[in-house]
Amino acid sequence: ADALRIGIAGLGTVGASVIRMLDAKAQELTRQCGREIVVTGVSARDRNRDRGVDVSNARWFDDSVELARSQDIEVFVELIGGEDGPARASVKAALEAGKHVVTANKALLSRHGVSLAAAAEKKGVLLNYEAAVAGGIPIIKTMREALAGNQVSRVFGIMNGTCNYILTRMEAEGISFEDCLKDAQRLGYAEADPTFDIEGHDTAHKLSILTSLAFGCRISADDIYMEGISNITQADIRAASDLGFRIKLLGVAVKTDSGIEQRVHPTMVPTSSVIAQVHGVTNAVAVETDYLGELLLTGPGAGGDATASAVTGDIADIAKSRPGFQHGPVFGWPARELTPYKRAR
Ligand code: HSE
Repeated sequence: ADALRIGIAGLGTVGASVIRMLDAKAQELTRQCGREIVVTGVSARDRNRDRGVDVSNARWFDDSVELARSQDIEVFVELIGGEDGPARASVKAALEAGKHVVTANKALLSRHGVSLAAAAEKKGVLLNYEAAVAGGIPIIKTMREALAGNQVSRVFGIMNGTCNYILTRMEAEGISFEDCLKDAQRLGYAEADPTFDIEGHDTAHKLSILTSLAFGCRISADDIYMEGISNITQADIRAASDLGFRIKLLGVAVKTDSGIEQRVHPTMVPTSSVIAQVHGVTNAVAVETDYLGELLLTGPGAGGDATASAVTGDIADIAKSRPGFQHGPVFGWPARELTPYKRAR
């Protein structure tokens, strides 16, 4: 089969890791997919920055929208970030041009996911976003594919690696909040603006996507009670510990008789519970359903390589899909059949 030609927009921590992984795993991927995956175009803000990766074989685009529409690519990989601006413009342009899209952008999907899903479904292309929620954990494929037919009653967990890393080190090593955050930034876990991590926005973005997948409803990122971890002190952590608890930043979505409840806040969890044993940058997502019961997935929630692993899986999915094959709905149900979001009373 012909090689799959992809364009990558955004060459930050995740973009550079994806380029490295596609290069290092070229043979395995070709064998698994039955065709080669070739990066034919790239785009980023600064052409001259040294990212430690070789993109000289790909055509350079200053404008991500131009890359998205380019005849050189069949798949547009968006790793720019941000809910509007070039990320939204280029994903929209790619879908309208009939290209498959892979994105790690939770902010974008939490705000515009349903309309982008509608555009993808209209064109019969894939919109894959495994890396957008809980980094390397395959929670999207699990909810969209493996849990088909299940009725979900609750989905919750630790969905921000930066916050869990900070809370873990504050407790285990007594290090200050600020120093832990600096390390999380240095390790490539934090968002470009770390306020999104520590004030709970990032968890809320991810939760809103899981809520849609869990309950078949439209996404509502505005209806989330949100409290971050910036006010958590060593004294809080000690006090919780004395009582037999750990503090974790949880995102929770529950279906009640009157509607859906979504919230993000620091939570005291019993030290002996499984969720309390989730340390560092690790995330954990729990799903409760009628046929399966309780499922808990844990794994690296942030960082270049773990996120690249999810992005690569999404690209490989597309490489394996047959031309002309009509792809399934993006959020488990066709976009226009998602029910209106109804908030619990
Ligand atoms: N800043 C995010 C986190 C990256 O810390 O979890 C993964 O989405």
